[in-house]
Amino acid sequence: MVLSNQTIAVLGAGNIGRALIGGLIKGDYLAPEQIRATRRHAATLKSLEADFPGILVGTDNIAAVRDASLIVLATKPQVISTVIDEIRDAVSDDTLIVSVLAGITTDSLQEAFGQELPVVRTMPNTPMLVDEGATAIARGKFATPHHLHVVKRMFEAVGKVEEVPEYLMDAVTGLSGSGPAYVYMFIEAMTDAGVKQGLPRHTAARLAAQTVYGAAKLVLDTGKHPAILKDEVTTPGGTTISAIAELESHGLRIMLINAVATATERSKELSKG
Ligand SMILES: NC(=O)c1ccc[n+]([C@@H]2O[C@H](COP(=O)([O-])OP(=O)(O)OC[C@H]3O[C@@H](n4cnc5c(N)ncnc54)[C@H](OP(=O)(O)O)[C@@H]3O)[C@@H](O)[C@H]2O)c1
Repeated sequence: MVLSNQTIAVLGAGNIGRALIGGLIKGDYLAPEQIRATRRHAATLKSLEADFPGILVGTDNIAAVRDASLIVLATKPQVISTVIDEIRDAVSDDTLIVSVLAGITTDSLQEAFGQELPVVRTMPNTPMLVDEGATAIARGKFATPHHLHVVKRMFEAVGKVEEVPEYLMDAVTGLSGSGPAYVYMFIEAMTDAGVKQGLPRHTAARLAAQTVYGAAKLVLDTGKHPAILKDEVTTPGGTTISAIAELESHGLRIMLINAVATATERSKELSKG
């Protein structure tokens, strides 16, 4: 097992935490008994326990982190200082802290813990719910390449992982963190476009989503530049070039460039608090 020597505490096993737990168990990265998960409400914990038999669930963050070798901080950023106040004394200085918290720096986490802890910051996205996440990871000043390797392997259970320096995390947030929403809008618009041309909505929706999925897979699997793949499907005087000309006249590229820039700026603003 990839993480056989780890005991992991996931604090705040909501959407992201739960997806991570699911990926780790399904991929046989570690045994359910090596995972502890917390939430605030006992009722929601029951479904977690039912979905992942063998993991230890509870509302007690201190019990969850005691003797854990790795702690995943997966609550909303707004409550993290309360959670850290709660667990600080139960965390030893060799515990690896993995954060999925948007906009919280590794320095501020180290400061909040009051110890020179290894911290790895991550920015996943929701396609990790279907094991196709895009996660960027950045290490804090006390994290070693080994720590980074462990976290990379963890998130590979739910998709692809890229390492970036921490100052680029706002750009990652603007691109792949918020990116699924841009793609959903694209798929919705493509679906409406098909309906306008007379296709039944469910047929149009499936064709649109599969086209996005398939095109993305072709880019990833072939490693070809998207411009080459675009040229390969663009017959002189054909249908595709007519549509491309229309998209260009409405500034598709600059619209996306500016959208990601705006989201990146907003991420920087939110990080300042
Ligand atoms: N969703 C995304 O697209 C995305 C992408 C990248 C990063 N993130 C980051 O991932 C984190 C989690 O997001 P999410 O979408 O998974 O949120 P979520 O579904 O609301 O999960 C947060 C969980 O934290 C639990 N919680 C709250 N206070 C707690 C406490 N004191 N102790 C233990 N657990 C507590 C909540 O439990 P109850 O439900 O029982 O209250 C909830 O299950 C956020 O920090 C966010 O910035 C999210």
